[in-house]
Amino acid sequence: MFDFTFYNPTRIHFGKDRMSALAKEIPADARVMILYGGGSVVRTGVLDQVKTILQGRHLSEFGGIEPNPTYETLSKAVEKVKADGTDYLLAVGGGSVIDGTKYIAAAALMEDDGWCILENRGRNIQRALPIGVVLTLAATGSEMNNGGVVTRAATHDKIGFSSLHCFPRFAVLDPTKTMTLPPRQIGNGVVDAFVHVMEQYLTYPVDAKVQDRFAEGLLLTLIEDGPRALATPDNYDVRANLMWTASLALNGLIGAGVPQDWATHMIGHEITALYGLDHAQTLAIVLPALLDIRREQKAAKLLQYAERVWGIHDGSEQEKITAAIAKTRAFFESLQVKTRLRDYGIDESAVPAILAQLERHGMTKLGEKREITLDISEQIVRGCC
Ligand code: NZQ
Ligand code: ZN
Repeated sequence: MFDFTFYNPTRIHFGKDRMSALAKEIPADARVMILYGGGSVVRTGVLDQVKTILQGRHLSEFGGIEPNPTYETLSKAVEKVKADGTDYLLAVGGGSVIDGTKYIAAAALMEDDGWCILENRGRNIQRALPIGVVLTLAATGSEMNNGGVVTRAATHDKIGFSSLHCFPRFAVLDPTKTMTLPPRQIGNGVVDAFVHVMEQYLTYPVDAKVQDRFAEGLLLTLIEDGPRALATPDNYDVRANLMWTASLALNGLIGAGVPQDWATHMIGHEITALYGLDHAQTLAIVLPALLDIRREQKAAKLLQYAERVWGIHDGSEQEKITAAIAKTRAFFESLQVKTRLRDYGIDESAVPAILAQLERHGMTKLGEKREITLDISEQIVRGCC
């Protein structure tokens, strides 16, 4: 196992009826801005519930943060935060609203234009406004980590950042709030969490027994309860298990002390930036292709995955690996998330554009050993078609 430092300061309030924690978590004299997305929290009543709990506080609102939040929209929020003298941000929504709020929290305290945060991947963030979260979509883990992804629509740049200053102070995780999700977002959420686990697990063995078994437990839970959430949308226990799994998938715990391979996410971000696919759709396309192209380098872990996660014990090593990759693809498809670029109307002519984006963003040495050069990315992207 590698050396590591593990740090996660986010307090979690998990369960039904935990919204009242907002009143205790947010200081009584704070000037709070509530941030939300395209209106789901208005329709579902979550926004009203939040405002009722915070009645009598100094509140303002900023709505309209879109999926794959844009610099263009977030810049307007930064202006409003500065104009209002806001000193506490409350994100109410999914990963996009939370990521956008992290960006706003840091950009609002900077003299320079906030885009420099993305240019520096967050390394230049020295402080940020405090952030609280009410989560409505189990997927990204953003509610319990310090990262975010922001898109500059004008230039098709979708770039990640992270900073110790961007951990939410607290997050309310009420699984009932995810029951209004449409099937597409349920499937997306399960795929995103699954791929987060895979990118911290499916590399090469370093004898990290707990991280491996923890990761396998999360994968097995997603395999068991992902389809159930689609089939029985009102099942509380299913939603609760998925919600906690998604948070644990990317809160630092399973990634501590192990090699990581974020190539699927990096290639996926370029596909979203160019063609507007949902984040999880891109992951469902890229991961099976990547595992196939990297089957030799990842053989030991692929075999472990085949046996421990999918119960594949028969056949040659290559047959087991092939079967595990096929099971992975079939799992995504069973969640109604398609796994080929052509399923989204994109053909081979897109390959050069995706590669040019990777090159422009310096994504030329990806993977757990930084061995995924542009040539190998090209093979992977061709395998996505
Ligand atoms: O915008 P509204 O109207 O709220 O609707 C949203 C949106 O259309 C809707 N929704 C959310 N909660 C709902 C709901 N609809 C009904 N009922 C509810 N309870 O769902 C749609 C998608 O929301 P979004 O927040 O975009 O989804 P997600 O949570 O999947 O976030 C995706 C973003 O997170 C980034 C992605 O790149 C993408 O930009 N990621 C962030 C990460 C992080 N910070 O650690 C890691 C991830 O890998 C990911 O890259
Ligand atoms: Zn993701």
